[in-house]
Amino acid sequence: MSATPRVAVITGASSGIGEATARALHAAGHSVVLLARRADRIRALAAELGDRALAIEADVTDSHSLEDAASRVRSELGGADILVNNAGVMLLGPFSADRRDDHRKMIEVNLLGAITATEVFLEQITSSAAGDIVNISSVAGRTARAGNGVYAATKWGLNGWSESLRQELLPGVRVTLIEPGVVATELPDHITHSETKEAVAALYDSATVTSGDVAEVITFAITRPRHLAINEILLRPADQV
Ligand SMILES: NC(=O)c1ccc[n+]([C@@H]2O[C@H](COP(=O)([O-])OP(=O)(O)OC[C@H]3O[C@@H](n4cnc5c(N)ncnc54)[C@H](OP(=O)(O)O)[C@@H]3O)[C@@H](O)[C@H]2O)c1
Repeated sequence: MSATPRVAVITGASSGIGEATARALHAAGHSVVLLARRADRIRALAAELGDRALAIEADVTDSHSLEDAASRVRSELGGADILVNNAGVMLLGPFSADRRDDHRKMIEVNLLGAITATEVFLEQITSSAAGDIVNISSVAGRTARAGNGVYAATKWGLNGWSESLRQELLPGVRVTLIEPGVVATELPDHITHSETKEAVAALYDSATVTSGDVAEVITFAITRPRHLAINEILLRPADQV
């Protein structure tokens, strides 16, 4: 084990990067709290991990479910030290009035969801002797292109907010922004615009970077000695333009 055991809360721990991060942090000796809507998946993962894993059904767009989760983390584990704001949806497609629901959902989950989870867990993280907040942004938080406008807007928003939060919470709490390129996960499965879904699925089918790769990077970043803060990591498949 590379660091003192801590309690890590991971949103969107039912698949992809969130699940892999929970596995990696658990393997590094930390306790993990798995939050997601698909309760069956997080319960199965907690059962597989065994000790030091707690599954709590929670929707990041519902502040009450996050508050209930925070109460349980406080009473059952003594509070959170690490929050990984990972829950996200990527409902890509051309900007159009027909896709109003997609636009709002991305803002509610990716941006407001991360902000709400941080509001709810802030007191626990700031009272920790070793607090870390990790926000999972994207290459799309730096580069906008046709077809990803509102998704990019959520990730640009996350980037700006993270930098402000970093300055406000130093030196006790470190804030780390992770910006992955294409990672093989279920992320494109929910795209509603059929042409975009087909194109993005083809790209993701040949993706070489795994959730495990990203989890390793996250684990590295937050297990450095406390005097060192890794604030931002941009990572892509070696062949991504
Ligand atoms: N894969 C990539 O190429 C890539 C690249 C850059 C950034 N990212 C970012 O990485 C993060 C994780 O995505 P992924 O690639 O691992 O995709 P994924 O496998 O689809 O994971 C998304 C996670 O978000 C959760 N989620 C969605 N809506 C939620 C809600 N309302 N409340 C709580 N949880 C919710 C899902 O859980 P439930 O459905 O069970 O609630 C799931 O666990 C996202 O923020 C995404 O934008 C991914």
